[in-house]
Amino acid sequence: SIMPDSRGLIELVNKLQKLFQVKWTWNTKNRVAQIVVVGSQSSGKSSVLDGLVGFSILPRGSGTVTKCPIIVQLITTDAGKEEEGIELQDFLEDGRSQDYDEVRAKIAALMERNGGAIVDAIIVRVYSPNVVTLTVVDLPGIKRIVSYGEPSDLDERIVSLSRKYINEKNAIILAVSPANYEICNSEGLLLAKEADPEGNRTIGVLTKLDLMDEGTDARGLLTGMSKDVQVKLGMIGVVNRSQKDIENNFTEKSFLSNNYGDLIGQNGVPFLRKRLNELLVQHIYKCLPELMEKLEDMLKQCNKQLAEIPNVMTETDKFLIQVLHRFENEIKKEIQGSPRTPEYHHLY
Ligand code: GDP
Ligand code: NA
Ligand code: MG
Repeated sequence: SIMPDSRGLIELVNKLQKLFQVKWTWNTKNRVAQIVVVGSQSSGKSSVLDGLVGFSILPRGSGTVTKCPIIVQLITTDAGKEEEGIELQDFLEDGRSQDYDEVRAKIAALMERNGGAIVDAIIVRVYSPNVVTLTVVDLPGIKRIVSYGEPSDLDERIVSLSRKYINEKNAIILAVSPANYEICNSEGLLLAKEADPEGNRTIGVLTKLDLMDEGTDARGLLTGMSKDVQVKLGMIGVVNRSQKDIENNFTEKSFLSNNYGDLIGQNGVPFLRKRLNELLVQHIYKCLPELMEKLEDMLKQCNKQLAEIPNVMTETDKFLIQVLHRFENEIKKEIQGSPRTPEYHHLY
C-alpha cells in the first residue's frame, strides 16, 4: 500500500485532505494532489502504479493495453468500521469487491467498449485503511505508429490526453522511461518537460533495469551524472514484477542489491513511494496559506452579514460559523504544528 511506513503522516495528510474536500465552500475540484504517469507504450506505466498502490488492478502487458484513462481513487477507511474493497462505478454487480482479479478483468473488458478508441475515463475507488487518500491516474502510452483497425489519429489523441492530465498544476508527474531504450527518445520526459519546464513536480522513473543489454547499466542516469538527461527531482530506477517473476520469486530488491548495491537506498518502488510522500506533503503545505486566506475571507463575510441582520441568525448560519471557526483552527494548528516544512532530499 502507499505510505505503509508512516502512519502519522497518513493521518496528517488525510486530515488535510478532508479539509480540502469541503465542496460547498470553494472549488476544490482540482485541489487534491494526484499522481499521473506519462510515457511511451509498454514503458511500464501501469506496472509502476500497481507497484505503488501495492495491489494489482491495472491491466498491463505488451501492446496498447491501457486504452483510456484509469483514475484510481484511494480512500482511507477506518480499520474495522468500513468495509475494505474496490468499487468500479456501477459496473460491479455486488458493489464493493475484494477480488482484485475480478476488478482487473472488468476494467479490461470496459476498455474494449469502443473497439480500441479512447473512451471516457474509468474510475476505480479503492477503500482500505492502508492507503492515503490520493488519486492515481493511469494513461494510455504514447505511440508513433497506429495499428491496423485503430482510429488513424489515435497517436495524437493519446498525446493530447496525456497533456490534459499532466498540465494540471497539482499533478505530480511520473515520467516513465524504459532503461532498455534510448533515453533521449523518451516520450514521457519530453511531455513532462513541456508541462513542467522547471521540473518541480516531475519524477523520472526508469523501468526495466533488468532488461538492459549485457555490459550496459543505468548508473549515469540514476546518479544524475548523465549528460543526456537531467531530472531535477531525480531519476528512480525500478524493476516491476511480472507474473512470471512472482512465480520465480524474483524480487526487485535482490536485483538491485546484486547490480546496484551502492544505489539501493535511492532506487526501487519503496523509495519511489517515499519520494512521492514527500512531494505530496510538500504540495499540501503549499496549499495551506491560500486555504487559510479563503477561510478568513469567508469568516469576514459571514460576520459582516450577521452584523447587518443580527436577529435573524438561523440555526444553519450558526452551524456554518461554527464549522468555519473549526476549520480555521485546524489549519492554524497544521501550519504552526508543521515540525519542518519538508524539503527535498538532495540525493546527489
Ligand atoms: P504500459 O503500457 O506503459 O502501461 O506498460 P505495462 O505496465 O503494461 O508493461 C508492459 C510490459 O512490460 C508488461 O508485459 C510488463 O510485465 C513488462 N514490464 C514492465 N516493467 C517491467 C520491468 O521493470 N521489467 C520487466 N522485465 N518487464 C517489465
Ligand atoms: Na502496454
Ligand atoms: Mg498501461
